[in-house]
Amino acid sequence: MTRDEQLRKEAAEAVSEHKNTVVSDPYRLHYHMMPPVGLLNDPNGFIQWKGTYHLFYQWMPFKTGHGAKFWGHYSSTDLVHWKEEEIALAPSEWFEKNGCYSGSAIEHKERIYAFYTGNVKDEEGNRESYQCLAVSDDGLTFEKKGPVIEVPKGYTAHFRDPKVWEQGDRYYMVVGAQTEDLKGAVALFSSDNLTEWTHEGILAGGDKGRIKDFGYMFECPDLFSLDEQDVLIFSPQGLEAEGMKYQNVYQAGYVIGKFDPETFSFDHGEFEELDRGFDFYAPQTTVDAKGRRILFAWMSVPDQDEQAHPTVDYKWLHIMTLPRELTIVDHKVIQKPARELEELREGSGVIHQAQLNGETIFLPEINGKTIELMLEEIVIEKGWFEINIHGAARLVYSSEQQLVTLERKSYVDGTMERRQCQLNDLESLQVFVDISSIEVFINEGRETFSARFFPDPKNSEITFGSSHKCSFVAKKWDLKKVFS
Ligand code: FRU
Repeated sequence: MTRDEQLRKEAAEAVSEHKNTVVSDPYRLHYHMMPPVGLLNDPNGFIQWKGTYHLFYQWMPFKTGHGAKFWGHYSSTDLVHWKEEEIALAPSEWFEKNGCYSGSAIEHKERIYAFYTGNVKDEEGNRESYQCLAVSDDGLTFEKKGPVIEVPKGYTAHFRDPKVWEQGDRYYMVVGAQTEDLKGAVALFSSDNLTEWTHEGILAGGDKGRIKDFGYMFECPDLFSLDEQDVLIFSPQGLEAEGMKYQNVYQAGYVIGKFDPETFSFDHGEFEELDRGFDFYAPQTTVDAKGRRILFAWMSVPDQDEQAHPTVDYKWLHIMTLPRELTIVDHKVIQKPARELEELREGSGVIHQAQLNGETIFLPEINGKTIELMLEEIVIEKGWFEINIHGAARLVYSSEQQLVTLERKSYVDGTMERRQCQLNDLESLQVFVDISSIEVFINEGRETFSARFFPDPKNSEITFGSSHKCSFVAKKWDLKKVFS
């Protein structure tokens, strides 16, 4: 048996050994992608190829921790129903022996070209990093071509997560990097043929431009054009918390600017976080046949008390966000749930016209463990308005402070913790609740909050409260179960 066959066999054994334990977890979700066992992290290789969406993911089948990652694989024709496919990449070769780390995919000559980082560590923990290529004819099995890029001079071995795109008659790649003087940066490469790559220098970060001296490492960069501008998404590490900003251990956000594919320059604005919640990292996008820019993110953040997650007892950890469509409005990246998610709705839903006057109410028809809740025509006379979800999360808007707060019960010690952002006016809310996750889209996606939460599994109650007069129209749909 080859090393590759051996690893695949061991992963399949881990899945079958723990399958019953995993699916018996009361916190298992209904419509979010999860690993069949073990730990899931970054979305990888996201592509729509021959009509089918493929989403690969960083996967550790053998434990609820990090290590020599595989590429797990889901496919879908509608972004809602996903099929679990066989493992795409197992870390079997010398150039990836400590993990087939994150990367991306592009179509070339009707095949999928997947670029990923081969992570290698020696006995002393010294790291090597290779940007590798694997090619697929059928979208399912990949032929490894080995390293195509070694770390250029000027960077440390923290050099990973290649994202490739085609522009004009050339190919470009951004790679997450750390410069030799320990600054986060995005490295740029170009190529005519996808196998020979030229290092074109630092695209952003390092010691120049608006995001110079901005943390010690940038992970998972993604550069694309959107509404006639260029957006660079990346996940910086090493930023200090600043007021309401940068509250998580690591961040995920973007800058908007103009990329020049001839001179390789990228003039851009300030960094903005993409999501205001607790759990959002390493997002990756693709453009689909409808021309939409769709994003998935890992719904967690690295180095964040992982072993305290209650799902660890059930041999699995972490989930993917819902797919989101991106646009730019007023110089800001807006995220809306992919419209196909309406497919999840069971029946026509219920509508309730609510009036509050300083009390807390429970609307018997507006509750549930796996629901979409839409609040429109929100009028808050003064003071605050809140929604309490399953007794373990609160979303509060203070009209006086123009402040949105998401509070959740910490899975580490049960105390309430919060994330916040300023918002001029609360007009609408779209909230997806899925057993142990919440995703909130505010004012048509102008702000989003993503968070895992772990309420009492029997609590499906939603309550609404206000300090003064307040009214809104609430719609609720129960959502289907598409994963187990
Ligand atoms: C981001 C990340 C990437 C790396 C991968 C390893 O979460 O650290 O930089 O490729 O995870 O699983």
